[in-house]
Amino acid sequence: MGLLKQKHLIGLKDISKEDIELILKHAFSFREILDRPIKKVPTLNGKTIANLFFENSTRTKISFELAERRLSADTINFAKNTSSINKGESLKDTIKNIETMKIDCIVIRHNASGCCYHIKEYVDCVIINAGDGMFEHPTQALLDIMSIKEKKGSIKNLNIGIVGDIYHSRTARSNIFGLTKLGANVMLCGPANLVPEDMKEFGVKINYNIDEVLEWADVVNVLRIQKERFNSNFLPSSREYRNAFGITKERLKKIKKEIIIMHPGPTNIGVEIDNYVVESDQSIIFDQVLNGVAIRMSVLYLLLSSK
Ligand code: CP
Repeated sequence: MGLLKQKHLIGLKDISKEDIELILKHAFSFREILDRPIKKVPTLNGKTIANLFFENSTRTKISFELAERRLSADTINFAKNTSSINKGESLKDTIKNIETMKIDCIVIRHNASGCCYHIKEYVDCVIINAGDGMFEHPTQALLDIMSIKEKKGSIKNLNIGIVGDIYHSRTARSNIFGLTKLGANVMLCGPANLVPEDMKEFGVKINYNIDEVLEWADVVNVLRIQKERFNSNFLPSSREYRNAFGITKERLKKIKKEIIIMHPGPTNIGVEIDNYVVESDQSIIFDQVLNGVAIRMSVLYLLLSSK
């Protein structure tokens, strides 16, 4: 076992508040290392990590790789398109074969929701979920929480709006679990068919009026419209979505108070968010990207170090 109460990081639903706080604490220390001229420490020297990305990624894949290298771990990168998956090998056989080569940790992104729960039944190594279908994206939520904490000092009692395609979003689910555990007030906003009422069970509010949410919120996390997960026509058009829910230049200028704007990326510019907003002083979108490396360093360190 590592230094957390759990062996794997599969989601924030089952993690304790204390473990979230420990990850954040170490992430802020690792963040300082990223500002040094030599951004490398020997912490995970001798550990081997396999990055298995079965779905596309820019930020998560590169920041896990960077985090592993900054910690001096050995890394291997699996590419689905050049693997024996294309010859019909199963996910289970692929992972069991990779683990047989003495891997300490698997970082996996896959389009099957909840796949990490299956994988942990047949491997002994540590598993980190880098985003699974519509289920959870725990390191994204942790880096979002770190970025809010960096700006605001504390998460407790903050009003945090999550806007967009909540139904398809693993980032939204992980944020909801993490933020509510740390005492934030969370409000969801988006088209009624993409913001299910049953999400209220997780201790959040729902408001379908974006202008009211912007007036209420200290922080707004804007989510991407995930067209690749749609199997039916959820939206009449991108233009109508922008008019009803987009974080536009005009909407941002109307807000009378300080507000922080976030987006996990990748962005659909001109749909859920305007480029003016991404590049405004209120936006911490690029801070989120950098904090992602620190969060992943922290998670890897805490899961792969011995007590
Ligand atoms: N936020 C996020 O997961 O981005 P990528 O899909 O580029 O990894």
